[in-house]
Amino acid sequence: MDKLWEVPKDQLYSSANTSVNTKKLPRIYSLIEERFSWNKDDVVFDLGSGKGTAHIREFLCKNECIYVPYDPYHFSEEQNKLAVDTVKNFGGADVVVCSNVLNVIREKHIREQVLRQAYEILKSEGVLYIYIYNADNTQKGRCTKEGCWQNNRPTRSYMREVGKVFPQIKRIGDLIIAKKS
Ligand SMILES: C[S@@+](CC[C@H](N)C(=O)[O-])C[C@H]1O[C@@H](n2cnc3c(N)ncnc32)[C@H](O)[C@@H]1O
Repeated sequence: MDKLWEVPKDQLYSSANTSVNTKKLPRIYSLIEERFSWNKDDVVFDLGSGKGTAHIREFLCKNECIYVPYDPYHFSEEQNKLAVDTVKNFGGADVVVCSNVLNVIREKHIREQVLRQAYEILKSEGVLYIYIYNADNTQKGRCTKEGCWQNNRPTRSYMREVGKVFPQIKRIGDLIIAKKS
């Protein structure tokens, strides 16, 4: 794995156990559908997918998309490397989905690493969609259970961080949309 895709050594909370959703489609998918559409053969890279992804794959298959989940804390290094290589062999991702991930990472430089991963894996005309879960809106980050973290910040407060990596960003309600060009 090249350095960008290495599992961060200094991430204090993996937040792996915040991934509890194995049946219900994450909200980001309905938010994307409300405003945009899926295109046939789109390669969709799910950055921080969580462990239960069968229902997401089924949903995207119905939309004739190719679904590639990635999660440093739920899949092995080999599986994640294969996911990244697969997308690169397709010439990059048309869509990167990053749902409920930046809000569980305490360290700013690791959130930046995730955004740089999204940037690298996207095709030049690709789109990154970000959904932030703002648990209690206190703006005070805290450990919610063993190994799990929530930043408790609103979506708009992530715009500066996303804009540091992506030249084109906008927010529609709870959805951040970022483009490379
Ligand atoms: C709350 S779950 C969200 C899962 C799924 N995306 C969803 O919306 O239901 C947060 C996920 O972020 C993953 N995660 C934590 N740190 C990460 C990192 N540095 N890079 C990518 N994923 C990370 C965790 O392993 C966990 O599966």
